[in-house]
Amino acid sequence: MTLNGKTALVTGASSGIGAATARKLAENGAKVGLAARRIDRLTGIQQQIRAAGGDAIAIAMDVTDAASVQAGTEKLVAAYGTIDIAFNNAGLMPASDIETLKVSEWQRMVDVNVKGVLNTTASVLPYMIKQRSGHIINTSSIAGRKVFPGRAVYCATKHAITALSEGLRLELSRKHNIRVTCIQPGAVESELFEHVSDAHYREQMEKLKGEMTFLKAEDIADTIVFALRAPPHVDLAELFVMPTQQAW
Ligand SMILES: NC(=O)c1ccc[n+]([C@@H]2O[C@H](COP(=O)([O-])OP(=O)(O)OC[C@H]3O[C@@H](n4cnc5c(N)ncnc54)[C@H](OP(=O)(O)O)[C@@H]3O)[C@@H](O)[C@H]2O)c1
Repeated sequence: MTLNGKTALVTGASSGIGAATARKLAENGAKVGLAARRIDRLTGIQQQIRAAGGDAIAIAMDVTDAASVQAGTEKLVAAYGTIDIAFNNAGLMPASDIETLKVSEWQRMVDVNVKGVLNTTASVLPYMIKQRSGHIINTSSIAGRKVFPGRAVYCATKHAITALSEGLRLELSRKHNIRVTCIQPGAVESELFEHVSDAHYREQMEKLKGEMTFLKAEDIADTIVFALRAPPHVDLAELFVMPTQQAW
């Protein structure tokens, strides 16, 4: 299926997996809404996409704020007329042991990783239902399939996204012709680890980078484009994408 002329909303488009996917979607002819909080970053990516002949707009959006998400989605629809693809990708992983009680980081993860996805899903669904087509892609993780020490809350949020994705697929696929894909990457090079405040886990992740070759954000972007380009009768419901050297 071609992506030419399709409209895509990408959250977390200011860095990592979101930025790489936004670029790849634009290369494939999609019109892309680049959504995140760091508008300067988004503007830079928008300029690069346009300079390469693609089409994109920068949208300041905080996914934890339902009004901000709604306004951003409306801005995208005002620019391009519709919305065909929603990549719910914004997320964070401040790893720490539960006993350290970093409650505000737990709440932040729930707000961004779970409530953020619910906010964007609610904002795009009416358009997709009305046009009887759409593709929602949610970024879960290997942490949405397994649980790791130091990441109990992160794993809980990603398990929630895995479950939500399957629930969306069950309710939306046959009834509204909306495809749902849950992508579950292993370790990917990005800015994700930079927000870890816990010294032990920060060190652990830095060490890990020297021990194995991480996926590139572009590897995930390629996988997403593959899922989007599948024929309309094919829904790649789950994609578990791992670095070859990640044996855990
Ligand atoms: N890297 C990995 O190893 C890995 C593995 C599996 C899954 N994942 C998942 O992949 C997704 C993307 O992460 P990444 O690895 O690409 O990390 P990243 O480079 O840190 O990107 C995270 C993105 O989320 C955005 N974001 C954070 N809070 C937000 C908010 N309140 N509103 C809107 N946007 C917000 C950030 O933009 P602003 O700061 O500009 O708002 C940024 O664009 C996350 O869901 C992550 O859990 C990552």
